[in-house]
Amino acid sequence: MSVTILGIESSCDDTAAAVIRDGVLLSNVIANQDVHLQYGGVVPELASRAHQQNIVPVVDSALKKAGVSSHDINAIAFTRGPGLLGSLLVGTSFAKGFALVNNIPLIDVHHLQAHILVHFIKKEGLVKPEPDFPFICLLVSGGHSQIVLVKDYLDMEIIGKTIDDAAGEAFDKSAKLLGLPYPGGPFVDKFAKLGDENRFAFSKPRIPGFDYSFSGLKTSILYFLRDQQKENPDFIELNKNDICASVQKTIIDILMDKLIKASDKYGISRIALAGGVSANSGLRARVEKDGLKRSWEIFIPEFSYTT
Ligand code: KG4
Repeated sequence: MSVTILGIESSCDDTAAAVIRDGVLLSNVIANQDVHLQYGGVVPELASRAHQQNIVPVVDSALKKAGVSSHDINAIAFTRGPGLLGSLLVGTSFAKGFALVNNIPLIDVHHLQAHILVHFIKKEGLVKPEPDFPFICLLVSGGHSQIVLVKDYLDMEIIGKTIDDAAGEAFDKSAKLLGLPYPGGPFVDKFAKLGDENRFAFSKPRIPGFDYSFSGLKTSILYFLRDQQKENPDFIELNKNDICASVQKTIIDILMDKLIKASDKYGISRIALAGGVSANSGLRARVEKDGLKRSWEIFIPEFSYTT
């Protein structure tokens, strides 16, 4: 018997619903929330309210696109957390109601495990290699930066994590200092493509083990820009591409240093990326480049499954 699952995600500011049958994605609908743009970050209360407005039309659209009705759904999965409490509540309440009405099982999903499990989403007519277990996943998003030892679908061990800011925050906060819109990661990526990544040097943390730290980088960029702007008030505008390229390189250097050490220590050369920051073109290219030298087997998620 085939199994059809409706998945609901509402952990932050996107309302998303997807239908999957026997691991094959039938539909995937996402409603973004533009309401936060003017505030330079996600406003939790506004996010919850927008989820309430979006959830029914998004689910309706996902069912229609998949060509199924609610009676065809065998189970409903939802993001349990971590995430914004009010936002999670909307998805959770909807999923509970849907499960109750249709008398089907309710599956709670860990947000971060879901990021990693995108490597197992199948698509009709497309054969894509999946990582064998165990593999190491660099999970980098707006709220988390972790090196995860993935032993099985639901058996994962965090071997390194950030002790302060996440990599996505490092991108977003740097972008804010440069006057770029939120979330700034994609803008830094865009301008970095046009710049010289070796033009400016920023400080890197010295943290033992496989943990990360990004708060020092933010301070280093802040002081650097302040000093440069004293000399030339147009410094940012005149050097935007080079600053973005140098900031991006520093973040990638920090991420790669620990990833390589973890791979060496655990003797695992199957390496995967996941999370919003894995959309970064520089990080993707660097993992490929460094991986080639080390004979890594690399798994980079489809762009649409990163965020
Ligand atoms: O995984 P995600 O969608 O949400 C969380 O669960 O946090 O990640 C969002 C983060 C933001 O910080 C955003 O700036 C970053 O991913 N991001 C990027 C890029 N695309 C998204 N960072 C760097 N380069 C990108 N191309």
